[in-house]
Amino acid sequence: MKILFKNIKELVQVRTETISFVSGADMKTLPTINNAFLLIEDDKIIDFGEMSICPHINDAEIVDASGRIVMPTWCDSHTHLVYAGNREGEFVDKINGLSYEEIANRGGGILNSARKLSETTENELFEQSKERLHEIIEQGTGSVEIKSGYGLSFDSELKMLRVIKRLKEESDIEIKATFLGAHAVPSEYNDNKAAYLKMLIDDLMPIISEEKLAEYVDIFCETGYFSVADTEQILEAGQKYGLVPKIHVNQFNSIGGVKAGIQYNALSLDHLEVLTDEDIAEIKDSNAMPVALPSCSYFLSIPYTPARKIISAGLPLALASDFNPGSTPSGNMNFVVATACIKMKITPEEAINAATINGAYAMGLEHKVGTITVGKLANLMITKPINSYASIPYNFGSSKIENVYLRGIRQ
Ligand code: NIG
Ligand code: FE
Repeated sequence: MKILFKNIKELVQVRTETISFVSGADMKTLPTINNAFLLIEDDKIIDFGEMSICPHINDAEIVDASGRIVMPTWCDSHTHLVYAGNREGEFVDKINGLSYEEIANRGGGILNSARKLSETTENELFEQSKERLHEIIEQGTGSVEIKSGYGLSFDSELKMLRVIKRLKEESDIEIKATFLGAHAVPSEYNDNKAAYLKMLIDDLMPIISEEKLAEYVDIFCETGYFSVADTEQILEAGQKYGLVPKIHVNQFNSIGGVKAGIQYNALSLDHLEVLTDEDIAEIKDSNAMPVALPSCSYFLSIPYTPARKIISAGLPLALASDFNPGSTPSGNMNFVVATACIKMKITPEEAINAATINGAYAMGLEHKVGTITVGKLANLMITKPINSYASIPYNFGSSKIENVYLRGIRQ
């Protein structure tokens, strides 16, 4: 089955050669073709170029994209979209002045979500999560990473990972799974964090590896959660089971987690709201992708990741949503891109690179998605008639997407 998109006002993020990511000053360049065509066959991109050389194809469905922009779908490399219920009560507590930490200390926060998840059946958890997945697809996301970490027990962590596996099997979106058992210490292990870590490593990791329930391992390396030593222990064990690290680090404090992540070849370092010059120097010597989560900063009213400082250091930057019930109850990547432009002062070109190819790299999907390149998946968003791709961040809060195709299938 072939589809030929004709008269595209601007085809965005076109790359004739496969690249892994863009960094530093190159992030300002977003290659596009004005008045373009794009040809897909089954699930792949097979040709594109200027309309003047558009081939005549007899057996293709024709889509007239006049006035519209076509671009690769968003690559959201950091979410926790499998969760039960919501935390609207804490939302009001926060409005009334309580901080994220104060809410957590009262038994709210991650532990509150873990309680709700333990009371929810696997099927119900699947249904709730599927709804969120459909919502982000409508908003233009075509590949997504999803973490466990609201289970915090042997049974519930497996329940979450099996839900992610089922979502993978039943949806056209690309999904990567991450084991985040070390998200918080559950109350039953309050005085014995070592025993909790042992359970994660000795009981859960072997099953996760055997049943191929996750590609990545993650840990919340933060004061009051898990230390650098805990991080090293989890990442080392993860390595043994073939789980590549992606870590929550430097959200509130810089405690040495960046260095630890890099030592264990982390694929991505996520959050980085608090970032020292030493941290930046460490990242420069690595292959790790720094990932900023501006919707989280927005929702919690905490500092934004210093994107300009990261890019000026010659580093790449990815943008992700952090979709979760506590710090970011939104998976809308259009809002992420807008907030990055408005609050982190990066240009639309930098933000789109960060939310497509660089996000793909942070999920190990850079050869499959994230650019318009022959041979990559036909994961596309078609905008409504708009002035330019800058309208997406400029008109923040309004949806500019008309259609989304995943693997060549209109969603
Ligand atoms: O990435 N920082 C740690 N984990 C999540 C929030 C989890 C929650 O509050 O439920 C995050 O922001
Ligand atoms: Fe997170």
